[in-house]
Amino acid sequence: MAVARSPCQNLTIPVFRNLHLLVRCVGKSKNIRSDGTIIDYSLHASNLEYELSLNKSQEMQAERGRRLAAERGAFMTTFCDRLEKEMKGTFERGQEMRGKLFEEFVTDSGRKVILRQPHKRDTEKLLVFMNGLVNEKRRAKDSQLHTGFESTLTLKQERAWLEDLLTEVRNRKIISALAEMDGKIVGNGEIVRGEYEETRRHGRLALTILGTHRGCGIGREMIRALVAEARRQGLKNIHVEFLARNKQAVSAYEKAGFKKVGRIPGKVYRDHRFLDALIMARTL
Ligand SMILES: CC(C)(COP(=O)(O)OP(=O)(O)OC[C@H]1O[C@@H](n2cnc3c(N)ncnc32)[C@H](O)[C@@H]1OP(=O)(O)O)[C@@H](O)C(=O)NCCC(=O)NCCS
Repeated sequence: MAVARSPCQNLTIPVFRNLHLLVRCVGKSKNIRSDGTIIDYSLHASNLEYELSLNKSQEMQAERGRRLAAERGAFMTTFCDRLEKEMKGTFERGQEMRGKLFEEFVTDSGRKVILRQPHKRDTEKLLVFMNGLVNEKRRAKDSQLHTGFESTLTLKQERAWLEDLLTEVRNRKIISALAEMDGKIVGNGEIVRGEYEETRRHGRLALTILGTHRGCGIGREMIRALVAEARRQGLKNIHVEFLARNKQAVSAYEKAGFKKVGRIPGKVYRDHRFLDALIMARTL
């Protein structure tokens, strides 16, 4: 991604009658695109740099100066903490509205794909995606899809599901990524953190690419983006489970550094047959 330069934001804030605070916020250049769009706001916020200057319009008595300097120091610490929190909050609210952008790439066949967090306006697109997978499972007896996708969803069900998902994403319990191509959702992946204090650094990954879009590099990029985000959020290991007969998934996860760690014989009962589930895992 081309990077021109970091945008720089200067704020001058009057503190006391004679004091002005100059705050300079500098983004990490690798998080800024050439058009100035900030890619990772939380990183940006945690890398704020402050340049503080004291602007005295009149001479101060030495003693009064020392007292003010002490007050000013305490004030500035509190102020900077508050400013950073406020800016981070603003950035995160912005992300929630737009859905954080993870990555843009071109598939093996030259089509542009956007990997991003979901947002509220995705309900209808997600409904089409999910019901497409339900249809695949109904039509194709040899479908590689894992569990779920059993019955057609309504818009209301999808909306409720998405609202819950966005809450979990906000609370950092789930890392969620969608792949969008030509305005259509073609892939959906997530990592769900362990629910206990002891397992919160472990995540369970699940990923599904629309049947028509498999095998052209989208899964590979989504696994990479999800793994990178999991690492960024402090997870230490992840696992994924799918049908043991799913060669495509085995290969995709092996290439992403996962190893086979277990098998659950006959976990899935489908079409009068018991199918094994395979578990693969990797550390981050
Ligand atoms: C498994 C899945 C996520 C992989 O995503 P994908 O977009 O199809 O995979 P990619 O095109 O990115 O390929 C990734 C790797 O998978 C392997 N792969 C892709 N197509 C393959 C095929 N037809 N046969 C065997 N291996 C294949 C290759 O090793 C490939 O790496 P390479 O391109 O560097 O050679 C996707 O096929 C899928 O959603 N399948 C159905 C649901 C599922 O199985 N989910 C897994 C449970 S989480």
